[in-house]
Order: sequence, then C-alpha cells, then structure tokens
Amino acid sequence: MNATLTIAIAVLAVLAAVVVLTAARRRESTGVLSRETRAREKAAREEAESRSPSGKAYESEAVAARSTALAVPTSVAVAPFSPPDPEVIGVSRRQFFNRATVTLMSAGLGGFGAAVLGFLWKGAEGGFGSKINAGKLDDIVAGIRSNKGFLYLPEARAWLTEFPKESLAKAESVYSSQAPVFAGMSSGIVALYQKCPHLGCRVPTCTTSQWFECPCHGSQFNRVGEKKGGPAPRGMDRFAVSINNGNVVIDTAAVFGGPAIGTNTTGQEAEGPHCVGAGGH
Ligand code: FES
Repeated sequence: MNATLTIAIAVLAVLAAVVVLTAARRRESTGVLSRETRAREKAAREEAESRSPSGKAYESEAVAARSTALAVPTSVAVAPFSPPDPEVIGVSRRQFFNRATVTLMSAGLGGFGAAVLGFLWKGAEGGFGSKINAGKLDDIVAGIRSNKGFLYLPEARAWLTEFPKESLAKAESVYSSQAPVFAGMSSGIVALYQKCPHLGCRVPTCTTSQWFECPCHGSQFNRVGEKKGGPAPRGMDRFAVSINNGNVVIDTAAVFGGPAIGTNTTGQEAEGPHCVGAGGH
C-alpha cells in the first residue's frame, strides 16, 4: 500500500514538471519576449535614434532644400529678336492665294487680249467683214458645178452660185440700183449671204429642188436667191462681187438687201422634190 502510494506521488511529480515546462515554452512562442531579447531591442533602438536627425533638424534640412530648388536667377540675359527669313519658312497661305489670284487674273486678261488681237488681226487679214479673195473665176465656176450648183465659202459666210447669162437683161432692170451686185452677176457669179432674211437662220441648199430652203419656217429661194415661198420678206441678201486679175473678190463689208417678193429673173422652177415644206422629207 505504501509502495503504491509512493509510485503515485512520483508519477504526479513527473506530470507536474512536464506541465510546467510545456507552459513555459508556449509563453515564449506566443510573443512574450524574454528579458534578454527586450534588452537587445532597446539597445538597437537607442543606437538608431542616435544616428538619425531630430525632428527639428529634419525640418531645417527640408526648408533649406526647398529654398534652393525654388531659387530664381537674379538676372536673365534676353536674346535679341530676329525675324525669320521668309525664304526659309516658305509661302504663307495668304501669300499663296494672293499670288494665285493675280496669276489667274493675269492669265484671263492675257487670253482675252489675245482673242481681241486675233479677231482684229483676222479682220485686217481679210476675214468676214472685209474683201475676201475666193480664188480664180474658172476655179470657182468649176467648184460650183462639181458641188451640184452651190459652193459654200465659209470665210465669207456666203453661198456662191452661177448667174445665167441669158437672164442678165432681165436682171439689169431689177438690180440696177445695186451696181456692185449686178457687176458680179455680169461675171456669172452671185454671192448670197447665208443668213435667212426672215429670222436669221442659216439657209441650206436643197440639191434635189436646186433651191435654197430654210428649215426654220420653210422659206424658199431659187438658185440666185430670189424668193419663191415662205414667210421671208424678200429674197436672200447678197454681197458685191468683183473680178480682180482673174480672181473673184467678195466684199463682205456691206450687205445688200435681197430683191423684192415676186422677183424672178431666171424663171427657175423647182427641179425636183423639196427638202422642207409640203414636198420636203
Ligand atoms: S428663218 Fe428662215 S424661214 Fe424663218
């Protein structure tokens, strides 16, 4: 009994020792520093504080650094202004438009001037409005015949046709007041203005009827320009014709009015179907 009690007390003593040791170790592992550790940390903190500046010293250093960074130079040297070179910087937009406007206006005026000069030059050289050399009389007659009775002379704006010699006696009484026109008839040539005496259309020929037939309102004229039908107030207007050294000269400076309605010196009737009007196509 005594032996059992002794063993029990010994076991309890061992268990108590184990419990005390275990508690001590747990206290160390849960953050409770040992005295040596706390002493070591305090010594390290004091050493760090002795090396870092104090709060006042730190502020003084910061103020000094700020004043240095914001320091403004007392005097700054100003460089003199020199304008940029226009040739270097190129042409501005305003300059470009100004120059383009002047260039275009100059080109337009130049073109207009050249056209006026060309027009005057042509008139001086013998265009419409002056005397026009149509060529040799024989060539003109041959040209009329090879073109089925009509020869167009663009520079004179006129049709040339033959005037039959056998009709001259009758024509003389009609055209005596227009001596230059009758002189051309006497040479065998009539120069008829292409412009219709009604309202000014260009009158074409009709090779089937061998007349002039206006497509605008149907006026008709025989081959020498005497009115045969339609609303025209007279025969076709005409130009003076002269022969100079064998050449036919058409004077387009003056327009002679066509013969009155009813004039029919040649007696030519339509030689085939009409091109305009009831018989036209
Ligand atoms: S313009 Fe020729 S008939 Fe009227």
